[in-house]
Amino acid sequence: MKLLITGGAGFIGSNFVHYWLNNYPNDDIVNLDKLTYAGNLETLKDLENNPHHQFIHGDICDTELVNRVIEDVDIVVHFAAESHVDRSILDPTPFVKTNVEGTLVLLDAALKNGKKRFHHISTDEVFGALSLDQNEKFDDNTPYNPHSPYAASKAGSDHLVRAYYDTYQLPVTISNCTNNYGPHHFPEKFIPLTITNLMEGKKIPVYGDGLYVRDWLYVEDHCAAVDLILQKGKIGKTYLIGGMNEGISNIEVVKKILKLLNKSEDSIEYVKDRPGHDRRYAIDWSTIHEELGWSPKYSFDEALEKTVKWFIENEEWWKRVKSGAYLEYYNKQYSQ
Ligand code: NAD
Ligand code: DAU
Repeated sequence: MKLLITGGAGFIGSNFVHYWLNNYPNDDIVNLDKLTYAGNLETLKDLENNPHHQFIHGDICDTELVNRVIEDVDIVVHFAAESHVDRSILDPTPFVKTNVEGTLVLLDAALKNGKKRFHHISTDEVFGALSLDQNEKFDDNTPYNPHSPYAASKAGSDHLVRAYYDTYQLPVTISNCTNNYGPHHFPEKFIPLTITNLMEGKKIPVYGDGLYVRDWLYVEDHCAAVDLILQKGKIGKTYLIGGMNEGISNIEVVKKILKLLNKSEDSIEYVKDRPGHDRRYAIDWSTIHEELGWSPKYSFDEALEKTVKWFIENEEWWKRVKSGAYLEYYNKQYSQ
């Protein structure tokens, strides 16, 4: 089988490329990525001489290129996106361009070229926010209510994917998952930022009261879920993927990482809150469990420890990321 993976030089996409080639070494992957600040070819270095992996540097908004690369692949797994909420608050434009327009270009090309499957990777942020004083979770019936420009652009892309199924019968599947973490996570996001700041002797910027709750999903568990959806998922269906049964607050996450790195709570710095900050995310992943037999393999404690270990052992990778274009953005974001 030949797969087109978009965004395969980013965090989840690159983990998926590695996952797929480890599990299906005879399949072929075409990896289309624009290499924005979040794309990193160093992450794919070990695949340089692998004849089953072809990297193409390009934009999913480029109709001519997309139609060319999609031609001889069997299925499309679409990860490429602008993915960071804080950046979307500073400038929503690239989010609409890549997440909405780019998805449309891909859908159109998939339809014209008769693809067997288009799998769209999306987020639980399209559902909005839950409150702290209820046990409610996002489920298969939760209406869309996105808050950040990032979430709104992902919601727009999800609606387009469904429209291509309803209107043109393009064989699609969608997955909406919770916050991923693990190897090669870009250190602007909360968990890798916390780990790497502590390793550099810097403070950890905790937004607001630190009592925001997320449902963390280890990236390898996410890859396994997408694999199952590709193999056994029902065409036209959306699957919700989460990593936990009970969410955990940001400050509790920080305390666990401090413990793993033997650091004191003096490193915590409460900073100005994110505008429109969603209080709590939690997903009811019982449908994918009951229908496809998926459940997360790793507990949060277990996978957090693996993740911290990975960042300790791969200091060169994240130091090169942090010393690049990332710094300019970092200063702007935390200048208050
Ligand atoms: P990321 O920012 O780490 O990587 C995105 C990748 O897409 C980068 O390699 C980037 O170069 C590429 N890209 C961006 N614009 C492009 C364009 N126009 N053309 C081609 N390539 C382009 O993102 P991630 O965290 O790996 O997220 C991957 C997908 O998963 C996204 O669709 C995101 O919305 C979704 N998602 C992420 C999370 C999470 O916790 N990280 C959770 C739920 C859903
Ligand atoms: O829920 C899925 C989403 O998870 C994905 O769709 C997004 O692509 C991904 O970036 C992530 O969004 P979040 O906004 O939840 O992740 P982030 O790592 O930016 O923040 C996690 C929590 O930590 C959130 O409550 C904000 C907080 N935070 C974040 C940063 C960067 C801080 O307190 N301090 C920080 O410096």
